[in-house]
Amino acid sequence: MTVADRAAAGFHQVYAQPPAGRWAAPGRVNLIGEHTDYNDGFVLPFALPLRTVAAAAPQPGETWTVWSELTGETVDFGAAEVTGAGRVTGWAGYVAGIVWALREAGYQVPGARLAIASDVPLGAGLSSSAALEAAVLAALVDLGGLDLPAEAQPRLAQRAENHYVGAPTGIMDQSAAIRCRAGHALFLDCRTEQVEHIPFDLNAAGLAILVIDSNAPHRHVDGEYAARRNSCEKAAALLDVPALRDVPTDGLDDTLARLPDDETRRRVRHVVTENQRVCDTVELLRARQIQQIGPLLVASHTSMRDDFAITVPEVDTAVEAALAAGALGARMTGGGFGGCVLALVEADHSDTVANAVTDAYARRGFTAPTHTTVTPATGATRLD
Ligand code: GLA
Repeated sequence: MTVADRAAAGFHQVYAQPPAGRWAAPGRVNLIGEHTDYNDGFVLPFALPLRTVAAAAPQPGETWTVWSELTGETVDFGAAEVTGAGRVTGWAGYVAGIVWALREAGYQVPGARLAIASDVPLGAGLSSSAALEAAVLAALVDLGGLDLPAEAQPRLAQRAENHYVGAPTGIMDQSAAIRCRAGHALFLDCRTEQVEHIPFDLNAAGLAILVIDSNAPHRHVDGEYAARRNSCEKAAALLDVPALRDVPTDGLDDTLARLPDDETRRRVRHVVTENQRVCDTVELLRARQIQQIGPLLVASHTSMRDDFAITVPEVDTAVEAALAAGALGARMTGGGFGGCVLALVEADHSDTVANAVTDAYARRGFTAPTHTTVTPATGATRLD
């Protein structure tokens, strides 16, 4: 059964009625541009063919009921739970967070019953939470006939995540889940929220993106993420700029010399050079030179490993083994401390690269990685 059919079947089973519609939103990988979003910088994610589907129908009053295939639980909440942040916890908190954020923004949110099914793996750094937020938001906007254009939806979903759930993430994941286009990467300016859809036709170039789940145990992800964000914001204040996006690449060494310690200098260097790498990658893709982006992916990984200090041995091993086996480029994707690695490979070479990573893992005694090849899919849509 497809994920959309599972959502509909779950809806029937739990509510003994058909849904009024189904809405899907994808997970994402980020081609390049890590920890740049909350620095008002640039990112270049694309949507995965793995999706979360919300089957939904209106229900009377200010009440919401949501069932999840994954846990088999049904959670109910009402107006009281969405007048203050954080009152619904766990996976249903993302759903309640969307209702909360819509209400905070002044929308009349329809009561609803929802059934959620998903193909986006949890905890793999592929933004399952943003996929859930985006699918639920799309459903509520349509059911309520709310006047909230797609361009404005990522900010609202981010508010749900930042303030209701309490995770201090940037705007990349929600933007990817909502605004991506099939066959394209999403070049997003996280300050202005302007986007450009950059053609990313891997097939035509005889290439593939291999996504390898490092299966590394997550270590202190939330605390470390918040710490990175904090040091970036402090550094921006020290440099007297609104955000690290405003630090030019030219003269970077002189700028870094104004900072008090080596760790802060490294954090800033990562963000400034990473923004530049996103722009350089976009230039190459516009010129249809996908093949040439490999060294930028590698430089991004090195910067995340040595300057931003967000990689772990499993992801470094995967990147090294992929490159040694002939990948054109490879890097960790997402927030870090585990999660996935992406490798740009010749299409007929992806098994060789994947096997090399598996062998390297076995030699180091790591839990075996899992992998899949992906092409850019579409953002949130109504299915029926
Ligand atoms: C997580 C966050 C994003 C972004 C990335 C790192 O995925 O949710 O906002 O900061 O990490 O690039």
